[in-house]
This record gives sequence, C-alpha cells and structure tokens, in this order.
Amino acid sequence: MDEFLIERLGHQGDGIAAGPVYAARTLPGERVQGIRNGDRLSDVKIVEPSDLRVAALCKHYKSCGGCQLQHAAEPFVADFKQRIVQSALDAHGIKTGFRAIKTSPPQSRRRATFAVRRTKKGALWGFHARASDTVIAVPECQLVVPELLQAGPLMDDLALIGGSRKGEMSVNVTLSEVGLDVYVQGGKLLDNALTLALSGLVEKHRLARLTWDDEVIGMRNPPHQKFGAGKVVPPPGAFLQATQHGQDVLTAAVMDAVSGARGVDLFAGCGTFTLPLAERSEILALESDKAMIAALDSGWRKAKGLKKVQAVARDLFRRPLMPDEFKHMDFAVLDPPRAGAEAQVAEIAQSALEQLAYVSCNPVTFARDAKVLIGAGFTLDWIQVVDQFRWSAHVELAAKFGRTHMQR
Ligand SMILES: C[S@@+](CC[C@H](N)C(=O)[O-])C[C@H]1O[C@@H](n2cnc3c(N)ncnc32)[C@H](O)[C@@H]1O
Repeated sequence: MDEFLIERLGHQGDGIAAGPVYAARTLPGERVQGIRNGDRLSDVKIVEPSDLRVAALCKHYKSCGGCQLQHAAEPFVADFKQRIVQSALDAHGIKTGFRAIKTSPPQSRRRATFAVRRTKKGALWGFHARASDTVIAVPECQLVVPELLQAGPLMDDLALIGGSRKGEMSVNVTLSEVGLDVYVQGGKLLDNALTLALSGLVEKHRLARLTWDDEVIGMRNPPHQKFGAGKVVPPPGAFLQATQHGQDVLTAAVMDAVSGARGVDLFAGCGTFTLPLAERSEILALESDKAMIAALDSGWRKAKGLKKVQAVARDLFRRPLMPDEFKHMDFAVLDPPRAGAEAQVAEIAQSALEQLAYVSCNPVTFARDAKVLIGAGFTLDWIQVVDQFRWSAHVELAAKFGRTHMQR
C-alpha cells in the first residue's frame, strides 16, 4: 500500500493528494494509505487523522453513499462551501461580502428519493452505496426528517406489490403538512389489479397522495406546502426546496434583497418566493412547467390578503423576458436550474432593472452570470451561502445585486 498526504478537498468533497490522487472521506493534512487505481485510492486507511475529523452521527455512514462529509467538523464544512463560491467568483475577478452561512440541522431533509428493491426474502429500501448500485438499508438515517423513515413499511409493501425482481424502483417521499406525498417510478406497469392493490396502500398507510409514474393512484388529502401565506399543492415530484429551514432562509434573503410595488419571479417553480413576495408586491411569476404554474395560480387564488399574482408558463431559456418587459418592474428574482440563466441575464443586462435577487444551486454558472451583470453596471452587494444539503458537497446561495438610476 502506498502512503499519501491529503492536501485539499475537491469540489465533490473527496480529499486530493499530489498527482492528483482522490481519496473519498479524507481531510486536508491527513496521511492515508490505500490501493491506487488510476487517480483514485481504494481501501483507504487513515494513518494520521486530522483534528478536523469527527465521529459520524449516522451509524450507516460507513456503507451508505448518501452523505459525503459527516466525518468533517461543521465549521470546516461551512468554510469549504464558502470557499467553493469564492473560488468560482475569483475565476472572474469578482469580490463581495459574505453573510454568515446558514446550515440546515440534521434530520431536516423533508424529501428523499429512496432506492427500493424486491428481494428473495422480501424488500430492501435505502440509498445507494458510494459509486455503486448496491442498496444500503438506512432505517436510522440522520439526514431526513423522522417522518420519512416511517415510510419504511410502506416501501416494503410497494416493493412486494409493485416491484419486479429485476429492477429497482425509485420512491420519492415528501413530507407535506397533511402527510406523506409519495411518487414512485420504475415499478411494474399499472393494470387494474395493481391499481386496486396500490389504492389499498393509500388507506393502509394513510398517505396524503400516491402517484405511480404519471398516474395519481389516490389522494386522501391534497399534500400542500406553505409558501408564506399561501398553500400550494405541488405536482407529483415537482421541485421543492430540500428543507423547510433552507426555504425559510432563502425566502428571507430574497425578501431582504428586493422590494417595490411590482416585481417578476423568474424560474418561479410552484411559488416558493412568489407567494411571500405577494404579501407586499404585485408579482409576475414565470416558469416553464405548466403544472407547476397551475399549482401556483391555484394556491394564490385560495390565499387571502395577497397582492395580484400573474402566473405564466414560459421557457426562459428560449424566450427570456425582454428588456421592455422589465419596464414596470421594480425588481426581479432569479432562481434558475444548475445551467444558470445565461439568456435571461443577457436581457437583464440590456434592461433598466435596478434590483435583483439571484438564488443559485451552482456557483460556477452563478459566477458566469454575475460577471455579465457586473459588466452591465450592477454591484454584487452580498452573498448568503445556504447549506440545505448538509453532509454533501452541494452548495446553494442567495445574492443581492443592485444598480441605480437606470432610464426606464
Ligand atoms: C431551482 S428551481 C427553483 C424553483 C422556485 N424558485 C423554488 O424556489 O421553488 C428552478 C425552476 O426552473 C424551472 N425551469 C427549468 N428550466 C426552465 C426554463 N427553460 N424556463 C423556465 N423555467 C425553467 C424548473 O421547472 C424549476 O421549477
């Protein structure tokens, strides 16, 4: 076995020694031994541990691939995540101030996609082992809210009734205010007998909603989520911020960054930011997914005391909001997918928009777009890093951009 000194962490959370050689679950300053296969070490043994190393909270951590950074002290992880954002900005020569990072607590992930298999003995549900399709049972997972783990008996039943012996089902479980919202993909094809059996599970496990591929099998209660004063029932499997804490912190940052009589929420989803913003401003909400727009609209119509919301389905990669359309907008909120918002940002740069809150799940595309905005006269006033994917290498942020005295 060769010995290596870990020098730094890569963006996926793996330790990196000179070479580069990657060793999962190691920390800077650690001396490690392992078997080198190309640029990776396997069978890693820690010879000299770092002071930053802590005991993992979860008893499944060793075998489960769901988390990558439970072995690292929390302040170190916070610093690592902020540095990822900083280095993306450095690549474009951008400087700004950081607000203190906010990290969601353990047992707070309100949605998870479990791998579920029918086995010879019965059923197996959990997460994949690292870089493997082996399913690791996680009955005491410390990442998700306890209510998701209570879906264990349901997942056993789903596997026995609807799983094939060959394939693996993915079971997406979301905690709603009225119970579990369950969305299954990869199971047997639906026929009358299966539909009947699955309907029985909706009652037996008192589910809010069960969806099988694109078919809603049963809905005892519309599984709504609260966005400010509004209640929205997202379409099955639709985007939702990963933790309630993350949603609250991002919403507070957005509300802090922008204000005015009228604004536009770009990539609005089901209205996570639209509805809280509508407590004080009229909002145009744009999003490409028609079902999410319909859910947002219905949530707004049922809510009391909100200002006008116009929810419109629009593909903002192909048809970004044009400079003229920003004329009557005091502010915009931008929360694109990982690809960022290149086309939309190019139009904002040409517009007279003065206030922008940018929420991002990808520091690299965020920094690329920030460079264009700064080139168009915006200042990047602050960044708030939000760690709602604790123990993973994933980074989220909210940022405030502003510029003054643009001619409308
Ligand atoms: C990161 S999510 C944010 C959603 C919402 N702001 C929230 O916080 O719940 C990004 C959203 O962009 C939408 N989206 C993806 N591609 C799009 C496109 N080309 N045009 C408009 N919306 C798009 C997705 O459907 C998703 O709802």
